[in-house]
Amino acid sequence: MGEVAGFAPVSLSFEQISRLEQLHVMPTYRRAPVAFRSGRGVYLIDVQGKKYLDLVSGIGVNALGYAHPRIVKVIREQAAQLIHCSNLYYHEYQGLLAKKLCEISGLQRCFFCNSGTEANEAAIKIVRAYAKRRSPAKVELVALENSFHGRTLGSLSITGQEQYRQPFEPLVGPVKFVPAGDIAALETSVGEATAGIFVEGIQGEGGVRMVDPAFLRRARELADEFGALLVFDEVQCGLGRTGKYFSFQLHDPPIRPDVVTVAKPLGCGLPIGAVLATEEAGTVLGAGMHGSTFGGGPLVCRVALEFLEVLDELLPAIHRVAGYFRMRLEELKLHYRYIEEIRAYGLMIGIQLKIPGKELVEEALRQGLLINCTHENVLRFLPPYVITESDIDRAIKILDRVFRKGQELIIQSGLADQLLGVGARTQA
Ligand SMILES: Cc1ncc(COP(=O)(O)O)c(C=O)c1O
Repeated sequence: MGEVAGFAPVSLSFEQISRLEQLHVMPTYRRAPVAFRSGRGVYLIDVQGKKYLDLVSGIGVNALGYAHPRIVKVIREQAAQLIHCSNLYYHEYQGLLAKKLCEISGLQRCFFCNSGTEANEAAIKIVRAYAKRRSPAKVELVALENSFHGRTLGSLSITGQEQYRQPFEPLVGPVKFVPAGDIAALETSVGEATAGIFVEGIQGEGGVRMVDPAFLRRARELADEFGALLVFDEVQCGLGRTGKYFSFQLHDPPIRPDVVTVAKPLGCGLPIGAVLATEEAGTVLGAGMHGSTFGGGPLVCRVALEFLEVLDELLPAIHRVAGYFRMRLEELKLHYRYIEEIRAYGLMIGIQLKIPGKELVEEALRQGLLINCTHENVLRFLPPYVITESDIDRAIKILDRVFRKGQELIIQSGLADQLLGVGARTQA
């Protein structure tokens, strides 16, 4: 094929980009004042050519960083071959990907969709259909307070954060919310009417908090006792983020899920989500009961297969580099008394502050470091798995400056004695 005309790359200024969005894009996002044009490794480059070290990685999506040569190669090859053919037909890569995901999770069946929230929607349908076979009255869902499962109506219904649900109520019900870790509350809430229990092994949007394994084990027992399904939402904490394939594998012995949902890093930036299930749960949705036009197409499945191959090789390195990151952060914490706690599970890292994190995120951006804040005062880092120790050294250097700025802000606000300790103002 000769040279073909196409939509040529544009070169807009930040002002042009933001103006266009203000006029034409629904105002659902609070964007930072930066527009990116390209990326390489763990760095993003904005439209003015400024380089940023990225500890957000597209909220846990760009696990192999940017322009990973193996991913770029596979996308090029497969895009020229076949991008989409619909689920009316077979192609070569969906079954291979399902097999691989089943192998690493210990589950037997897989359904493909396009995002985390869709994966949870499918999980809710599996739970409902499975329970209905036992009893029409078995319809209740149990979920955790402080959880996040997505923005579509089903996933929102099991999201344990009032501010997300309230504008759209009434939602799908009945749902009972239980404080994560409260075994007594779990025991009271789970019963004959329970169809499924939904958990994140580590709550991500909820502030990077691991759920007590004793609680998760009790959830397993109760699910068995009452014939309910135990669903692990591994959308944020799964697929290598913690140094294991899944967060339920962090515990010894691992906790056995019936259903697992994944998304974020699987497509290296292309949209894909998946639900994994046991043979019993994974066969309740028969032909016509669920589906997705885009789900599990050849391009995205082949990319996901490549991602999982790279991940197999990367897992030990994730563990090592994450340990180094944690150590450097703990050192930094010693200098800043307003850092309350560091919660690090592999490369899923939360820094609990005694102050709101918004201004620190803004300062980091100015200094060329992308970080994120969740739950108002938890800085969250979800760096690409390919981050190196020297990238981490660089991040720590910038963070030191950012935290120093935070200290100045505290002093200016007159809260130094309270947040930094008596006498801190004169020491600073
Ligand atoms: C644990 C968890 N579940 C579900 C979702 C929703 O995923 P998506 O935004 O791909 O729909 C998220 C997104 O952050 C998440 O963290």
